[in-house]
Amino acid sequence: MRSIFAKKTVEQILAESEGGEHKLKRTLNVWSLIAIGIGCIIGTGIFVLTGKVAIENSGPGIMLSFIICGVACILAALCYAEFASFIPIAGSAYTYSFATMGEVVAWVIGWDLILEYGLSTSAVAGGWSSHFVNFLDLVFGVEFPKELALTPADGGYANVPAMFISLAITALLITGIKESARFNNIIVIVKLAVAFFFIGVGLIYVNPDNWSPFIPAIKEASATGESVAASVWDTPLWKIVAGWFGSSPTSSFGGVSGIVLGAATIFFAYIGFDAVSTTAEEAENPSRDVPRGIIWSLIIATVLYILMSMVFTGIVRCDGTLTMEDLGTDAGAPLVYAFKQVPNSMINKWAAILVDLGGLAGITSVLLVTLLGQSRIFYSMSRDRLLPPWIAKIHPRFQTPYVGTLITGIAVSFVSGFVPLGTIAEMANMGTLFAFVLVSGGILVLRKTQPDRIAPFRTPFVPFTPIIAILFCVGLMISLPLLTWTSFFIWMGIGMIVYFMYSHKNAGLPRK
Ligand code: ALA
Repeated sequence: MRSIFAKKTVEQILAESEGGEHKLKRTLNVWSLIAIGIGCIIGTGIFVLTGKVAIENSGPGIMLSFIICGVACILAALCYAEFASFIPIAGSAYTYSFATMGEVVAWVIGWDLILEYGLSTSAVAGGWSSHFVNFLDLVFGVEFPKELALTPADGGYANVPAMFISLAITALLITGIKESARFNNIIVIVKLAVAFFFIGVGLIYVNPDNWSPFIPAIKEASATGESVAASVWDTPLWKIVAGWFGSSPTSSFGGVSGIVLGAATIFFAYIGFDAVSTTAEEAENPSRDVPRGIIWSLIIATVLYILMSMVFTGIVRCDGTLTMEDLGTDAGAPLVYAFKQVPNSMINKWAAILVDLGGLAGITSVLLVTLLGQSRIFYSMSRDRLLPPWIAKIHPRFQTPYVGTLITGIAVSFVSGFVPLGTIAEMANMGTLFAFVLVSGGILVLRKTQPDRIAPFRTPFVPFTPIIAILFCVGLMISLPLLTWTSFFIWMGIGMIVYFMYSHKNAGLPRK
């Protein structure tokens, strides 16, 4: 019996990536990599969830929620960057754990990444759909039939725009990485322009009084009539911890608990910087440029997020009296709502259109990169035969892993069209945070087991950086609802069955 903890050496991994029929094309420079990072990070999170979290959880303190997540992500990113420079392979976290912790951990993380990439793509496609419907209405006055833009659980037949965009992006990805990167670069420019516009023009209309109180008083659960977890301390796992300190359940809005609860949701906005590492085999100089791509895209996004949430809460007073229902049809596009509040009719109309367009473009590139990331992870797993080898087949003309991409695209399209997406962002957060914990833990293992290897980029202040990253990520994980935890365990349980029934038996490692 081959051990489930069998590892691959870095040399073996690198040699396999050079293999003939499974080779990808190297065309991405550092700018494309940063654009891929930004392309994947800035999307539904900032355009949709910022408003929701500020209104329902944190108030102006959402800036602190963004800072908490930003710190967690920057620390995890420093760990990703070392691995990416050391093992510049498409499988990202999956491959890193194969080299440090062995096959079964690699499988666990590969399976877990389906939550991050696959599920967030489906959730994001749903966000695209609502911006698209809004855009048709704002610009052309065309009303898209509601039943065709909602999943059956939300009262429609299927979310057709979400299905369409997933398939369209799949087709683009199959045609070529260079074309996809070029398309992404253009979209990222549009998205950044809209973000700067929102900040620049928004600042003129900010009323600083709206930032006070910065951390609003806790709103009692009875006042909000909530039946869900009332506060972060009231989520099942935190309850145990909070109980030690004698804390009692209060509300999901206001106080420090509102900020932490908000952080667990807003974390979705940061998902994606690690996608840069999945394109390492397509980078011209991966050891140098992938770490740069990861870190710079994350820093740019963090600064923009803090500024955008500052502007939003400066225009829209989020003191616990406003509810999402008050936003009416703009509930799916709160930043558009913000501009509709300013006392200038030109700004009302044109800024709303522009911000909607930015949301649409922004979300398109998130879709592009998450789909790209998912297909590259499947590609790596299949190359290791933990998944069937035909998934890694490269198209003879386009040089892209077309089979894996097509399967991913069809699955994502189906999920986004028919499955209600309420808890999907939380599931994606859970999967991503778990991946961050494993990658940060991997740096500790790497430094212990292979202390002589010097990666071109080294995570600073080891062991503190990975340990603090793990603490932050676990803190955010236990702030997520129990349902998310249950679903997570079920998903990972299915993964273990597949592993022992298929993957372990078929894995391509030489038998001992
Ligand atoms: N970070 C990505 C978004 O916010 C997933 O859409």
